[in-house]
Amino acid sequence: MFTADISGGKLGIHGVAGLTLLAVGVYSARNATAVAGRYIEARLGKPSLVRETSRFTVAEAVKHPVKMAKRLKSKPQDALEGVVLSPSLEERVRDIAIATRNTRQNNGLYRNILMYGPPGTGKTLFAKKLAVHSGMDYAIMTGGDVAPMGRDGVTAMHKVFDWANTSRRGLLLFVDEADAFLRKRATEKISEDLRATLNAFLYRTGEQSNKFMLVLASNQPEQFDWAINDRIDEIVNFALPGLEERERLVRLYFDKYVLEPATGGRQRLKLAQFDYGKKCSEIAKRTEGMSGREISKLGVAWQAAAYSSEDGVLTEAMIDARVDDAVKQHLQKMDWLRGEEAAKSLTPPPAGVTSSGGKMGFNLPLSETPHAQEVIAPVLEINEKQAPMNLSAEGESDDLAGHNSTAESSGQPPASTDGKMREDSPPKDGTPV
Ligand SMILES: Nc1ncnc2c1ncn2[C@@H]1O[C@H](COP(=O)(O)OP(=O)(O)OP(=O)(O)O)[C@@H](O)[C@H]1O
Ligand SMILES: [Mg+2]
Repeated sequence: MFTADISGGKLGIHGVAGLTLLAVGVYSARNATAVAGRYIEARLGKPSLVRETSRFTVAEAVKHPVKMAKRLKSKPQDALEGVVLSPSLEERVRDIAIATRNTRQNNGLYRNILMYGPPGTGKTLFAKKLAVHSGMDYAIMTGGDVAPMGRDGVTAMHKVFDWANTSRRGLLLFVDEADAFLRKRATEKISEDLRATLNAFLYRTGEQSNKFMLVLASNQPEQFDWAINDRIDEIVNFALPGLEERERLVRLYFDKYVLEPATGGRQRLKLAQFDYGKKCSEIAKRTEGMSGREISKLGVAWQAAAYSSEDGVLTEAMIDARVDDAVKQHLQKMDWLRGEEAAKSLTPPPAGVTSSGGKMGFNLPLSETPHAQEVIAPVLEINEKQAPMNLSAEGESDDLAGHNSTAESSGQPPASTDGKMREDSPPKDGTPV
């Protein structure tokens, strides 16, 4: 109809109205598609920053209907099944698991958790179990994936939280290796893009949520930006296993990788006769300083030894040989770590001090002053003011003392807090917190 008007040289009232309507139509259609697109994207697609998730997409549900139905019906399992922890840490994380489950059932606000400790001590393992136990979905993000995203980081980060907010079951958002991108904005040399992404993360986590729970895991939480510490409600230290825990771990993985396949029937693995219980206790003594992961790998090594032998029989001597290997390799790793620490430490320890607590529970002759205390103590101070309950759970020192003298030095809050800590506190460059 407007062709006629336009060709006529003047745009009639109908023409103007028509054009306006058309423009409005096109504009709103485009907007509506964008909004709908974003909504569908948030609901269906897994954001690129999320590495692994228990949440299923519509496509997956269509592909594996039986699996999905099973999962929907599955009952929450014990949060600590297959996780070996010292008794007091176990009690602590069990409390967290119960509280999280109740929070989900009552649609309350989730508490954010920081788990820190040496590699291979069960942080990721526990986080996944916690999600399953509480009936939540989990999503795993890795801190190291953020920096390479460059300027797309901000959008990607918002996508993660848009997606998290559409979760019906509640989402446990697990940020592994969190220190890789949650670094101090003020003091560390981080790129503008990373700083912007961190700001987006802070913006989206400023308020406690009833949709997602943040679980951060780190080997170096002392590198966190102050604003991150401020968002943490519970700090849990996963220390290296002590003798008792090592024995439980050795038994667990001996059962899993050796006994079960040996008794399972169809497998080729056979086990020679010897006192398994005694052997496990002996191995626990020999594996001092090893992590849960190292011990689980030992289990796999025994299994591999049996499978690669001609008759498929696992003998005591073969088990011992693998333990010897593992111990040697562990010592080598500790040597490297020691070298690294010594290189970092510019000032030698005071005279008379031959050994002091190193970072993350390793006993090293030369070490830096553990900065973790400086950062964590003020967090606890804040938490104490807000929720005195949290601190009562910090009674880990007793169980850790026997196993790992350094775990406390890197993780336990000092009895008194001095002014020095505040130097580290809020960013002084005016960056938003
Ligand atoms: N406390 C534990 N109880 C039982 N198994 C454990 C424990 N700790 C570690 N393991 C074994 O080691 C594997 C790796 O552990 P996990 O991924 O939880 O370590 P992590 O603490 O997250 O380490 P990282 O800091 O390197 O990410 C687990 O899958 C499990 O087989
Ligand atoms: Mg991990």
